[in-house]
Amino acid sequence: MTDDARGFRRNLTNYGDRAFALYLRRSFAQSTGLSRDLMDRPIVGIAQTASDFNNCHRGVPELVEAVKRGVLAAGGLPLAFPTVSLGEVFLSPTSLLFRNLMSMDTEEMIHAQPMDAVVLVGGCDKTVPAQLMGAASADLPAIQLVTGPMVAMPFRGERLGACTDCRRFWAKYRAGEVSDEGIDTIEGNLATTAGTCAVMGTASTMAALAEALGMSLPNTAAIPAVHADRIRAAEASGARAVAMIGKGPRPSEIITPKSVENALTVLMALGGSTNAIVHLTAIAGRRGIDIPLDSINAISDRTPVLVDLKPTGQYYFADFHAAGGMQALLHELKDLLHLDCMTVTGETLGERLATPPVWVDRAVIRARAEPFDPVGGLVAVFGSLAPRGAILKRSAADPKLFEREGRAVVFESLEDLAARIDDPDLDVTADDFLVLKNAGPLSPSGMPEAGYLPIPKKLAQAGVKDMVRISDARMSGTAYGTVVLHVSPDAASGGNLAFVRNGDRIVLSVKNRRLDLLVDEAELARRRTSWVPPEVPRRGYRRLYNEQILQADQGCDFGFLRGI
Ligand code: FES
Repeated sequence: MTDDARGFRRNLTNYGDRAFALYLRRSFAQSTGLSRDLMDRPIVGIAQTASDFNNCHRGVPELVEAVKRGVLAAGGLPLAFPTVSLGEVFLSPTSLLFRNLMSMDTEEMIHAQPMDAVVLVGGCDKTVPAQLMGAASADLPAIQLVTGPMVAMPFRGERLGACTDCRRFWAKYRAGEVSDEGIDTIEGNLATTAGTCAVMGTASTMAALAEALGMSLPNTAAIPAVHADRIRAAEASGARAVAMIGKGPRPSEIITPKSVENALTVLMALGGSTNAIVHLTAIAGRRGIDIPLDSINAISDRTPVLVDLKPTGQYYFADFHAAGGMQALLHELKDLLHLDCMTVTGETLGERLATPPVWVDRAVIRARAEPFDPVGGLVAVFGSLAPRGAILKRSAADPKLFEREGRAVVFESLEDLAARIDDPDLDVTADDFLVLKNAGPLSPSGMPEAGYLPIPKKLAQAGVKDMVRISDARMSGTAYGTVVLHVSPDAASGGNLAFVRNGDRIVLSVKNRRLDLLVDEAELARRRTSWVPPEVPRRGYRRLYNEQILQADQGCDFGFLRGI
């Protein structure tokens, strides 16, 4: 692109007279008080996602100001624009339902407005994937800047951080080990700073994967939200975006089959969130790259878990940064990575990793010779209950439950689960498999993080800590347990999960990567005849969602958004 088509000259509104369109645009831009010098500069858009409904983005205004500083100092004109912002716990029925809406908003605003590069400022679970999906489709030079994690704060002799500790204390409360007053006090001490969830949940995982893909500046993924280095990273992202104008690299040069494989390797080494499989599949899908679920097993089997982070370990994401951060982890994984992948700095990953880290805290980031776990955190299982696959986070599960046959205790929906799970008369034992239906992508609930089914109260009070749980739902990256998720096809689309009944036998074998329903085909066909699919929403975004949503193994993207 020539300089003539940069900045405000770019993407002119169409009145049938280009000169008039530019004249009109500049006239209106004058009303913002910009000097002529600034108006002639190339433009860096800043996708800003501050929202009073998104506590995790509390620091975004400060970051946007720092990005602007970096852009101005490097000779560009920074212009921030709002997009949809998704605050994980403030959205009903679930944030995933709106991820694709945010990605479309991001893509279209990058396309439609006159910008030459963009800095994407996001953080909470769905925002980073949505921004990367939008940027991958728009294919304008783009840098992901994350808000950074919260800092876990001291509380009565331990540190608390959202939100593995939320679940730990809630489980104790359900078991009668914490009082009403106690749980109220703890509520005020779980999430106490700006930033995203403090553990290796979905937000931390996606921040790490954005960097592993090459879409963020080096060693920025885990800088705490409240650290001054986070602001410096924002300023540097703005400056770098200016340098990318007209030269790239573009997302299409960064997000490639090799960089996606690098991201999967990092996901395994982190023991990261199961949600990341869905999001990475969607991001890769925007560039026409498929991630077959069985390829995940191959990567998982050769990649050790190298970090000791909650929810499976003991440290927080901010500790990971202090221990050496992404640069230290990537160094440790060097022989498993494609080092020729391009990154936003214009260097290859290999060039980024040319110098070994000065110091690594081995309590948090282990050496390859002494892994936290010799194999990766996630596995895909297949079988008659999940012909297109399901996911289990083995690093967060109890290995004693890996090779099991159990009796199904079925909940038809989230409402059914809520109504009956604590019923003292529920026919359930610790050896049963809890099965939740109609919580998948095509269900009216839009695949919420409901796969971490609570242990029935009477069993929790008897000391049961884990059971096999199976559903087409997702699970928060901050949760743990022997939980089989993302069963595909989901129940709402008529997958075999829809036909499981109380008392059916199910076999889970992590060793053989199997999940089988021991009901013969003829009986399943008979049950299918009485199946009623869920109602189709009548209008609006929910109708579009219903018509276009793909299954979990395709990243829950919309069919018409995949590909180049
Ligand atoms: Fe926003 Fe966890 S709720 S990152």
